[in-house]
Order: sequence, then structure tokens, then C-alpha cells
Amino acid sequence: MKKKLIIDCDTGVDDAQALILAALSNNVEILAITCVFGNNSVTQAAKNTVRVLHEIDCCHIPVYVGCEKPLKNDIMMDQIRSSGSAYHGSDGLGDAPHATTGSPPYDAVIRSEKAATAICRLIHEHPGEITFVALGPLTNLAIAFRLDSSIVGLFKEINIMGGAIHSQGNVTVVGEFNIAADPEAAAIVIEDVVCPTNLFSRETVNLNGAEWVWHSHWLSRDTKVVKFLREITAHSIDIDKTMWNVLFSPPDLVTMACVIDSSISTKESVHHCFVNCDSNPHTRGQLIVDWRDHLNKNKNITACLDWSVDGFKELLTKVI
Ligand code: BDR
Ligand code: CA
Repeated sequence: MKKKLIIDCDTGVDDAQALILAALSNNVEILAITCVFGNNSVTQAAKNTVRVLHEIDCCHIPVYVGCEKPLKNDIMMDQIRSSGSAYHGSDGLGDAPHATTGSPPYDAVIRSEKAATAICRLIHEHPGEITFVALGPLTNLAIAFRLDSSIVGLFKEINIMGGAIHSQGNVTVVGEFNIAADPEAAAIVIEDVVCPTNLFSRETVNLNGAEWVWHSHWLSRDTKVVKFLREITAHSIDIDKTMWNVLFSPPDLVTMACVIDSSISTKESVHHCFVNCDSNPHTRGQLIVDWRDHLNKNKNITACLDWSVDGFKELLTKVI
């Protein structure tokens, strides 16, 4: 049976790569894509999502617009916005040229129902069956939890790309982008979850990566989707190589690969985690992992600690 997914994202470059992998994989069915602010505005995230779906002929997947701001609009927004556009480009998709093959059907694909309502509805329509994949700030999911608390027990699994489990942040000293963009929302989700909840942290995804030589070969074909991937990733790959000095390991794409093929996640451990929502700009948005069980509290999060580059490359080669 195909895995039923809801993907919640702030469609920037790595979200786009994750969406393409999921949409083209034949063992998953995407029931909805819900958009949230983050790498860009929520309106731009929704437009980018439709543009991606149009490029891969998957405009049958419904897109829902969600929250345009964090629960508490605060001091970190400027930092979040500039960090998002510096990496993902001013339009969120690497400022790549648009295809000349007609404008994406934005109005037909973007539904009028709001993201949080759509999440609640779909969870009730498919109780116990939905794998939720969160690739952006957790605002939509937190709102859905608050809108209808009966959904909390009805997810099959929740997967979160976010957090810096060893406190090596990418947007603040200790904060990872998706959690730091809306700490209160992340705190609600992480405190309330009752289903298996997997976390793919910044450090874990960047621990490994495919070699750039492999990557160039993988993206050397001239199919429509490969050409699109080459264009939208050119700017961020440059930053990965020159500034971050990492191998090919886009966070949202690695997360999606592990969701689609759970054998790609090779090491996990279960812990009590919580989010720091204080107002100190250096510590706000920090994901705290109780590694040594000091608090003796419920172990709410399964943290992925390692993943297989070979499995990742195999999946990407097979699907794209
Ligand atoms: C996360 O932040 C965003 O910029 C990426 O899309 C990814 O979801 C990585 O920290
Ligand atoms: Ca993202």
C-alpha cells in the first residue's frame, strides 16, 4: 500500500527537491501540500509549489495556503527572512529562469481552504493512515493541533526536518531555521505529539552527503525535471560548496528520502525534547534534547543520528 503523505513546506530550493522526489516516487501518494511562511512569504511558497508541480506534470495535487507569520511575531523575523532569501534566492527558487512553456495554473491548484483546516479534515478522513512531513516552520501543524485536538492521536507518523540536536545552529548560535522561525509552534507540536515522531536535525543531515562528482553526474541528463533541478539549485549549491563546505545533503531532500525509504535512516535514538521559547535572541528557538534523561520525562522524539549516502543516491537515481 502506498504511504499517504501530507507535506507541509515553505517551498525553497530543498523543499522543491523533496517535493519532486515524493511526487515522482511510486510508493507514496501525496494527499496535500500545505504551505507556510519561512524561506519566503507563504504566498510565494504556494506559488513556488505550483511551479514545481507544473514542471513535473503533477498539478492534480492540491495546494493549501497556511500561516503567513509565526504565532508570536518577534525579533527573529528579520534574521529569518534574510537568511531564507540569501540561501534560496529572492523568489525562493534560486531566481532561476521560468520555463517558457506557459504559466503554471496557480488558481486551479491553490485551494481556498486554509492549510490547518485541510490538515484537520484529511486526518479525520484517513484516521491513523497519514504520514505528515514538516519541512518548514511548524506553525500550520500547531494551529491544526489547537483547532482540533482530536487529530493529535490520529496521525500514523510525523516527520520533522528541524532543530539542531547538538546546538550547532544555522540561523542563530544554537537555533536551526525551521524551529527558530516559530519556537512557540514547535513547542506546541513537540509537547503534544503522541504518534511516532521522527526528527531530522541540521547536524544529522549535514553529517554525510553525496559527493559533488556524483551529483554532477546525476544532474547531467537533459530531461525536463533534471534541467529544472539544475537551474533552481545552482545558487544554493554554490553556497553549500563555498560557504558551508558540505557535501550534497539538502536538509528537506534527505528528510524526504528517509521518509520514503526508512532504511536510509541508519541510526536513531529516542529522547525527551523541548524547545526554548525565552526572549534571549541567542537561545530562543533552541531545540533541547535530554540526552541523559535528566528530567525523566516522556520520550517524545526519535532523533535520526545517521543516514546512508548509498541508500540516498540509490533512491535519487531510481526516482529522478
Ligand atoms: C531548513 O531551513 C530551510 O531554509 C530549509 O528549507 C530547511 O527546511 C534547514 O535548516
Ligand atoms: Ca524548508
